[in-house]
Amino acid sequence: MTMTTPTARLARALPPASAALLADALAGLAGRPRTLPCKHFYDKAGSLLFDQICELPEYYLTRAEARLLEHHGDDLARAIGASGILVEPGAGSATKTRALLDRLPALARYVPLDISAQHLHDTAAALRAAYPRLAVTPLVADYSQALPEYEALHANGAPVTVFFPGASLGNFEPWEPDGAIALLTRMRRLAGPRGRVLLGTDLGVDPEAIAAAYDDAAGVTAAFNKNLLVRLRDELGAEVDVDAFVHEAAWQPDHRRVEMRLVSTRDQTVRLAGRAFAFTAGEAIVTEHCYKLTAEQVWTVARRAGLAPARCWLGPDGMAMHELVPAVRAS
Ligand code: AVI
Repeated sequence: MTMTTPTARLARALPPASAALLADALAGLAGRPRTLPCKHFYDKAGSLLFDQICELPEYYLTRAEARLLEHHGDDLARAIGASGILVEPGAGSATKTRALLDRLPALARYVPLDISAQHLHDTAAALRAAYPRLAVTPLVADYSQALPEYEALHANGAPVTVFFPGASLGNFEPWEPDGAIALLTRMRRLAGPRGRVLLGTDLGVDPEAIAAAYDDAAGVTAAFNKNLLVRLRDELGAEVDVDAFVHEAAWQPDHRRVEMRLVSTRDQTVRLAGRAFAFTAGEAIVTEHCYKLTAEQVWTVARRAGLAPARCWLGPDGMAMHELVPAVRAS
């Protein structure tokens, strides 16, 4: 049976990324709290805004992690193994990875994974130019949903390291089975029994710095957040007054997370695909959680995914890099 509702008609006419946004927006705007999932931040405009966030004086995470990788790069390279295989889910431009690749001239293979085929293609080309002897085999994959069964990875017995920097685990719910635990479980499987996961997290040591990092003076994070509404309007034809929502980032110490929201400044109705969503002034859409777990909490989540903490390197501003190995091997 074919559906002929306005939603079904609209969804059929949309490219897959927009259809996924539509499905999540219809479900999320009807829920309580209202939500829009953060994975939809990253269209072309959103990805550029995120690149700008990483350069902001307030957003300490990128700089601090780069310093950690520089400072502990030799140790990390030893953990990966001179002739190991490096796999990076959500590799993007793989800028940080260069600190490791520079130290691993005999690496067997580098496998960047990304949802954007174009971005991946550009990244692979840039890396092949910079490291002519390195085998770069990119794979298009949405790591938040699934990681490929990639048997060839384990064919020559080289140890596989799954590298996941950037504190991105913090955007997955740590205490829900289908959140961070499921993601780390997929990474454990990808790494295989002899492999490891190198996981970068933000331990969140300074609430004032956190507040500034997620609500910068130049308003870049606000624009990044509001880009979700821009997408609803421009891609899905929603009737929404983007300027009648404001960005909010609340540090919630009991959860150890920043909650990003879009708050309606007045009573208004958002219309999307024939559905009406009435907002009262002050009502919020939750768009993202950024967890800042303690190291012990990260290890608890890891253990639930069958991974055991092996080592942890600390950088400035509370950035940490955890080496996690399959628990079976560790015991
Ligand atoms: C991608 N992720 C690690 C960022 C973070 O810090 O949680 C996303 C972000 N949200 C607002 N600013 C940056």
